[in-house]
Amino acid sequence: SRPRRLVIVSNRLPFVITPAADGSLVSRPGSGGLVTALLPVLRDRGGVWVGWPGLVDHEADLEAALASAAGKAGYRLAPVALSAEDQAGFYFGFSNQVLWPLFHDLQSLCNFDPAYWRSYCAVNHNYAQAVLAEARQDDFVWVHDYQLLLLGAELRRGGLTAPLGFFLHIPFPPLDIYLKLPWRFTLLRALLEYDLIGFQTLHDQRNFTQCVRALLPELRLTHRGSRARLPDGRQVRIGAFPIGIDAAAFQRQARSPTVLAAADALRAELPNRELILGVDRLDYTKGIPQRLEAFRTALHRHPELQERVTLIQVVVPSRDDIPQYRDLKTRIEQLVGEINGEFTRPGGWVPIHYVYRALDRLDLVAYYRAAHIALVTPLKDGMNLVAKEFCACSVDSDGVLILSEFAGAVAQLQHGALLVNPYDLEGTADAIHQACSMAAAERRKRMQLLRRAVSRQNVFRWVNGFLEAAIASDLDTFPLP
Ligand code: UDP
Ligand code: G6P
Repeated sequence: SRPRRLVIVSNRLPFVITPAADGSLVSRPGSGGLVTALLPVLRDRGGVWVGWPGLVDHEADLEAALASAAGKAGYRLAPVALSAEDQAGFYFGFSNQVLWPLFHDLQSLCNFDPAYWRSYCAVNHNYAQAVLAEARQDDFVWVHDYQLLLLGAELRRGGLTAPLGFFLHIPFPPLDIYLKLPWRFTLLRALLEYDLIGFQTLHDQRNFTQCVRALLPELRLTHRGSRARLPDGRQVRIGAFPIGIDAAAFQRQARSPTVLAAADALRAELPNRELILGVDRLDYTKGIPQRLEAFRTALHRHPELQERVTLIQVVVPSRDDIPQYRDLKTRIEQLVGEINGEFTRPGGWVPIHYVYRALDRLDLVAYYRAAHIALVTPLKDGMNLVAKEFCACSVDSDGVLILSEFAGAVAQLQHGALLVNPYDLEGTADAIHQACSMAAAERRKRMQLLRRAVSRQNVFRWVNGFLEAAIASDLDTFPLP
């Protein structure tokens, strides 16, 4: 039989469309790990991607702009429209001021406004209408991330019988935290309408099954929590599928003459310096202020690092309508100013180079390749692809990865990285010192371990693993898309 077509659904399309000054529409690639991971998948397999192009209250010429964005890539982009109201309630509201902080264990940052919930329900319903217009019963519909937890239930209500998969890119919180959610039952029941539910780590999977056991005792879970049976006999598969990157593509680009020239230029501008790199979306989960404090602590505790290290911190603008994100930006700028004010010397050494904008892929890869050390210290992260991208781009195996214990990526990268608790400023400062003084042979040994893990557990392996689990479900047998 014919392989099933892949229908990917995520809040955003991989391209953000914005009106230019002359009124025409221009597209640029979106930011964040979900897009980086999924783009090569659709390029590889083809299919349809349903999502929001980032425009608000805009209809005209959208199809044309999207068609040119997808180009000859071999897949189609199907837009979902959001009104300004939807954006406020569903996107900035429930998705990013309830689910995002709660699922990252930051309940004190949540705003449980019931109007946000109503908007979330309505917009999930609208996404379902867009998918129903697109999907056929012989497709495989794969829904992504916390913005669309209710979509599976909406699709079933709309009569779609195609198999439905869901992957959560962010962590799933422990029971005690999940219980705070006023809509905890509805969300959990809706999730169980999917045929396969995937998480980044075993830890997230266990948190989820613990919530199911506590809140929905009428469900039967298998011993290892990889299958749930509903009272009506339907079964749901549950699994951990750590996402990866297109490691070969990053590696190839890191070896290209253009990147090499750009990386050489960066190193030449900052000669005799150990370059430490941080790359993050502007987000309080990334631990940027804590990292800057740890860097300051390192300069105090290990004064020999002064004039020898430069921290390049790239911050990609994100969700800037939300007060906590705006406050975070102010806090970061203040800390960068303080630290540079305290340590800058007449010889030209500026300890922190701060970049606040989205980078082109080429510039990003050049930073990865030029850096000697990557400082990836989220307070909590579903996976963290920046850590994996740095390793893939460290083609001379001379980079050191300092990684937070609380990033999902730790499960794959624990053997080569220096692990830190991002709340432990002195511990992180000492790891920076250790990385700066690490012998070349140890750097090499560690980075080779990391590079092997990143190449093996790449994004194509992730897709195969997920789709194979979907096939293995009792509910439906179908060939891979
Ligand atoms: N990234 C980006 N634009 C930039 C810098 C980085 O799109 O200017 C990408 C980066 O390549 C990575 C993603 O953003 O793939 C960040 O993913 P990660 O999983 O680390 O965190 P997320 O932003 O998804 O929380
Ligand atoms: C994380 C989330 C994605 C999201 C991305 C960028 O990676 O898991 O779902 O798309 O951040 O955030 P944004 O709010 O701009 O879509």
